[in-house]
Amino acid sequence: MKQHTQSQLLIWQPLRRADCSACILHKEAKTVCNLGDGPVPCDGAVLGEAPGFNEDQHGIPFCGKTGVFLRRMLKDIGLDPRKLFFFNTVACRPPANRQPKAKEIKACSPFLFAQLERVKPKAVLVLGNAALRAVTGKKGAITKAEGSIVRKDGVAYVPCRHPSSVVRLENEDSYLFVLQTFKENLVIFRNILYPKKDRLYAVPEDAQERLPKC
Ligand code: URA
Repeated sequence: MKQHTQSQLLIWQPLRRADCSACILHKEAKTVCNLGDGPVPCDGAVLGEAPGFNEDQHGIPFCGKTGVFLRRMLKDIGLDPRKLFFFNTVACRPPANRQPKAKEIKACSPFLFAQLERVKPKAVLVLGNAALRAVTGKKGAITKAEGSIVRKDGVAYVPCRHPSSVVRLENEDSYLFVLQTFKENLVIFRNILYPKKDRLYAVPEDAQERLPKC
């Protein structure tokens, strides 16, 4: 199982608060104050919602099933996940993977922004409602914001539905359609990081035929 490297720990240890009690999430978490993972500084960052079961066990963001899927999709559109920094909106696992509450997002935001300050990304892929709210202050459905770019303090934030919501649809009729929208957001993110790179991913010509029947 992946672990933080010594050099990552040197960077983050002064920031990490393993005894944090700023919100109630520390009470049931195995890993309190889960650190981000990836190179520092880093042009591209990926912001999730919260650690899940595996992330809580191992203290590494996106190391479970959703992370495997996300990394595969990033590779598919021509991005190397090893060159991205992965972190979460709240750093402790919410009980039963429930959505983090507004007061928990607020309590964790100094840690989130401290990580952003050190990572200094050009672009952040913002996964899900909680992440969007934390970094842009925008409330509401991520599905309304996706397809756009929110520029703030010199950083381009790219809203994108959360990969776990895509994985959940794997056996549904709507899966291919949702997957395609998801990948289009990844492509927006990639094009900010590598504006001149050859376009590796194109929307398939039969896309319309694969729209779900309503
Ligand atoms: N989902 C998230 O939002 N973050 C993780 O680290 C894993 C799953």
